[in-house]
Amino acid sequence: MAKKLYIKTYGCQMNVYDTNRMTDVLVPLGYETVDGPEGADMVILNTCHIREKASEKVFSELGQLRRIKERRESKGEKMLIGVAGCVAQAEGEEILRRAKQVDLVFGPQTYHRLPEMVTQALGNTTGRGISDTDFPVESKFDFLPEESLPQGSSAFLSVQEGCDKFCTFCVVPYTRGAEFSRPVKSIIEEAKRLVLNGTKEITLLGQNVNGFHGEAPDGKSWKLGRLLRALAEVDGLERLRYITSHPNDMDDELIKTHQELSTLMPYLHLPIQSGSDRVLEMMNRKHTADHYRKIIDKLRDACPEIALSSDFIVGFPGESDRDFAETIRLITDINYAQAYSFKYSPRPGTPAAGIDAQVPEDIKSQRLAMLQELLNAQQISFNQSMVGKNLSVLIERKGREEGQLGGRSPYMQSVFVQAPERLMGHIVEVKIESAQPNSLNGSVVTGDFDTLDRHTVNEKQTAMEARI
Ligand code: 5AD
Ligand code: SF4
Repeated sequence: MAKKLYIKTYGCQMNVYDTNRMTDVLVPLGYETVDGPEGADMVILNTCHIREKASEKVFSELGQLRRIKERRESKGEKMLIGVAGCVAQAEGEEILRRAKQVDLVFGPQTYHRLPEMVTQALGNTTGRGISDTDFPVESKFDFLPEESLPQGSSAFLSVQEGCDKFCTFCVVPYTRGAEFSRPVKSIIEEAKRLVLNGTKEITLLGQNVNGFHGEAPDGKSWKLGRLLRALAEVDGLERLRYITSHPNDMDDELIKTHQELSTLMPYLHLPIQSGSDRVLEMMNRKHTADHYRKIIDKLRDACPEIALSSDFIVGFPGESDRDFAETIRLITDINYAQAYSFKYSPRPGTPAAGIDAQVPEDIKSQRLAMLQELLNAQQISFNQSMVGKNLSVLIERKGREEGQLGGRSPYMQSVFVQAPERLMGHIVEVKIESAQPNSLNGSVVTGDFDTLDRHTVNEKQTAMEARI
């Protein structure tokens, strides 16, 4: 009988990707995935360390799992509990010390070793869980099996991991390790397999994805622009995206790729964190606000329709009213389609956590509210500017209402339509009729089957059948 596996994923897309790949490693061991921890033979928490109080949340979840595990054990059944991801990497020893119910702890770079770890954990009688949080010399990508399940019409593909930038607020360089780019050949092979299994859109992932510099079949090192061009040649791959980028790696070739490659969606998440040069310097971002503005100008020259997104931190230690005003000015000038914003919170072990001039909580809250009001207004007006336009939408999920399907516009907006389920997985043309702060509504434009899908004859046939 198949053993049941439940993986709970926290945090970024990179963790979603890692969860899928952990599943790929465990399926050959006889596991199949289930939707909850009750009755599971193995539960893995794939954790994220970015958000505040991340480890407390993990410990509270582990408390609930302990109760489930005790119930199973009282019936003579076994249940393994694993903690993976960035909290495991940063606080693995502490987890094993405090949470005796945990059988295995492993980091983002060692989950290819899960078969050995699971065998070891099943035979472990020491009363203490096992841990593997190395940064191994081997790359996990050389050991991971091929994907065991189709990843859906929109899939993630990890091309780069880790970060050497050491922004002073950030834990990533400590939890994900040094920058590493996968070889081009294995990326293209993975993309082809995804497309064969029905994927139409691939989002390339990396903590510093535009710092990609992978070894290519021509013996050279390719940067992200070159990789995107090669991926655009994969037959049946309709849409490409990448996330997350650093301004300093936004080179001219990549900007030109936005101009020339229609497969590359006109959307870019390019975090700046603050509009003040003084704060940017304290954050060790290694660029000025002006440099960022120049990159945005170049991007908009190359691709006028590009929608921009960013991350902002308010209340970084030492941030003055004047610094904050510069962030507001930058947001006003750039005009974002959407963005994420956070109050600074100290992460143990990072340089900024030790700075004396921490900003009081109430000031952080005031600044965040002001910044979000501005960003929300920009997002609403961006969404409203879509009303009356036709957008291509990749339909990928059911909506909340009866008969409703949802997908993403080229600009990453959620778009909902009333449409037959057979359109699932297709790219359709949608006339936008109304805009909400976080989504758009519209109707599928009938008629031209070319708008349903662009590629192979087979797909065109399906597209024709799918016409309303
Ligand atoms: N405090 C607040 N926000 C943070 N981020 C990363 N570290 C911190 C921190 N210590 C935010 C940054 C980053 C995003 C993923 O999370 O804006 O870009
Ligand atoms: Fe963290 Fe991004 Fe800075 Fe790297 S570039 S340290 S991942 S914020």
